Amino acid sequence: MAERHIDIVKAAGSIPATPTMNILSIETSCDETAISIIETNDVSTAAPKGAAVEFKILGNALLSQIKIHKKYGGVFPTLAKREHSKNLIPILKKVLEESNFLKLSKSTISTFNIQILNSILEREPELLEQFLKFIPTIKPPKIDAVAVTVGPGLEPALWVGINFAKTLALIWKKPIVPINHMEGHIVSALLKKSGNKFSIFNFQFPKFPMIALLISGGHTQLVLSKEWLKYEIIGETLDDAVGEAFDKVARMLGLSYPGGPEISKLAQKAREYTLISKEVADKLYRLPRPMLKSETCDFSFSGLKTAVLYMLKKIPNITDEKKKKIALEFEDAVTEVLISKTKKVLKRYGVKTLIIGGGVAANEHIKTSFENMIRNEYLKIRLHIPTKELSTDNAIMIAIAGYFRFSQNSEKYKKQNFDKIRADGNLSL
Ligand code: KG4
Ligand code: ZN
Repeated sequence: MAERHIDIVKAAGSIPATPTMNILSIETSCDETAISIIETNDVSTAAPKGAAVEFKILGNALLSQIKIHKKYGGVFPTLAKREHSKNLIPILKKVLEESNFLKLSKSTISTFNIQILNSILEREPELLEQFLKFIPTIKPPKIDAVAVTVGPGLEPALWVGINFAKTLALIWKKPIVPINHMEGHIVSALLKKSGNKFSIFNFQFPKFPMIALLISGGHTQLVLSKEWLKYEIIGETLDDAVGEAFDKVARMLGLSYPGGPEISKLAQKAREYTLISKEVADKLYRLPRPMLKSETCDFSFSGLKTAVLYMLKKIPNITDEKKKKIALEFEDAVTEVLISKTKKVLKRYGVKTLIIGGGVAANEHIKTSFENMIRNEYLKIRLHIPTKELSTDNAIMIAIAGYFRFSQNSEKYKKQNFDKIRADGNLSL
């Protein structure tokens, strides 16, 4: 017994500990201010390509500005920028505390660096003030890089996150990894919760070719990927994004922003009463399925939105029951179009992995419709849909993308000139 114990100790001692990598991420592309710190095994030095990758969320915090933008019925960019500036330091503090990285220690910032900080945060005086009060009181955390969303999104909002990343990276002497928000939505779909622990996720590498259907407030895209981290956009919306259509229709129905979850709630109630879903067959409540017949992989949702507007004009005295029917029919129309276009590309490209990502992927009806489609017709295709928290904007997805980008070519990021890191509201994959 004693001998066996010694063997185990020896064996354990002889295995080199897997090097870990910690990434701090910042997301400010729209109306969510989010920061996270993740820990993972360093595949760039420790394990061969395609090895098992596990992510541990050391800290994660998100502050939604929904309440502030609600009264405008959508996101107000200058307000979003101001809120990000105000909230980044308190959120960072929270995440450092949660990660156990908040270690107090007095230091001073050189006058030379203060000048640089002043020029980087020239337009964010409130953030600069909080930065100078807080950062010199703590030790630099154990992180390897700062990942930050550089686009697509609202440029004034993106700039706050980027400038904040630059100041942290300057003082803590860390590289910055610029991240495309849409890549974040793709990789977050591949996270699978490990057992019951919320904070640990296994990463499931996709099989190629892979298709990602990205559905959010600003995007509706079908993305083809034949190789890890390489993308080709094969279809997109010609006008409104799906999330945008949900939000606009919600506004027409007098529902609050963001409209997606509100419409979804009403439609869900209508689905519960079969009576109502039968009544929807009534011609008055029929909506078109735009672009269903077209051969292209593109989408169009503005006609659907206009059709709701005409429908509302024809229906007298809109009641809650009537709103439920409209919500149900609208959700059905959107889902049918998304499913039909996706089916087209699954066949065309011999797809092995399908990802649905972006805020609208949080929609229960869309989610179950895709699950049923795979179960009934495409058993060989692996389907990945993120959990609700990972579907809508968050910083974890930026950290995951940051980790893969950084481990692919860390030298490139270590040498990068910060001046070249810029916000691009229309950044493409
Ligand atoms: O990805 P996301 O959080 O932000 C962008 O990058 O745009 O997506 C936000 C969009 C909003 O339009 C919101 O209405 C929509 O996702 N959304 C939903 C649901 N939850 C959020 N749409 C339909 N059903 C939902 N349950
Ligand atoms: Zn998003």
